[in-house]
Amino acid sequence: MENKKPMLVVSTGAGISAESGIKTFRDADGLWENYPVMDVASADGFRRNPELVHQFYNERRKALLEAQPNEAHRILAELEKDFDVWVITQNVDDLHERAGSTRVLHLHGELMKIRAVDDPDYIETLDIEHLETTPATRGKNGKPMRPHIVFFQEAVPNIEPAIELAHRADIFAVIGTSLQVYPAAALMEYVRPGVPVYYIDPRPASTAGRGNVKVIPEPATKGLATLRDILLKGKKG
Ligand code: APR
Repeated sequence: MENKKPMLVVSTGAGISAESGIKTFRDADGLWENYPVMDVASADGFRRNPELVHQFYNERRKALLEAQPNEAHRILAELEKDFDVWVITQNVDDLHERAGSTRVLHLHGELMKIRAVDDPDYIETLDIEHLETTPATRGKNGKPMRPHIVFFQEAVPNIEPAIELAHRADIFAVIGTSLQVYPAAALMEYVRPGVPVYYIDPRPASTAGRGNVKVIPEPATKGLATLRDILLKGKKG
């Protein structure tokens, strides 16, 4: 009987996609330096000016088409050979999936999906030819559509399953997030006592008061190679 693989739960933010050429939000020259966040990524902003919001997400979709998964995404996918890996991501890109991760839980939505404005369960996936959406975009059911994104001022529907995963983790890792946006930033606090927590970020936010976090102050590609060595050595015992 093969012994059960340890459960590795990883919470990722924009930093893991930085080395794929996708802008983060709060770094220098980040998205929020060039766009008024409450105009392009909030519920009020969408009500005020849906055209601007659709345009913002159309630009991010085009940037995503140019991007490829990087070594950090690939190492996470490869770790599924030795661990029961679950990725909880704040990112709306599909780079984890394209790198081969098989269990990805998106907290803030998905860039390549749109949904009916008045029915959150009616979701369509955009294809490469039809990336551009506008307020006039209709779903196959004829209903007006919006980005399938969790705007600021909106609830995070997947936070409950994410908390459950953090609570079940045998190992928890946080990669490439400034830990400024809740509830995602609080996930590490649901980890059971004694479960090791690692935080990979070249400019790590303070984790004071969040229990004993092992900080690996490196970019995601290098930091995940370091973490892989630690975890595989630990597995060998
Ligand atoms: N490797 C790892 N981390 C990196 C790298 C890299 N190469 N480059 C930058 N980082 C780190 C930064 O140091 C920072 O801590 O990535 C983090 C990016 O932080 P943010 O830009 O705040 O992104 P994130 O934490 O994912 O934002 C959370 O805010 O605007 C909302 O919904 C949006 O999901 C997003 C949420």
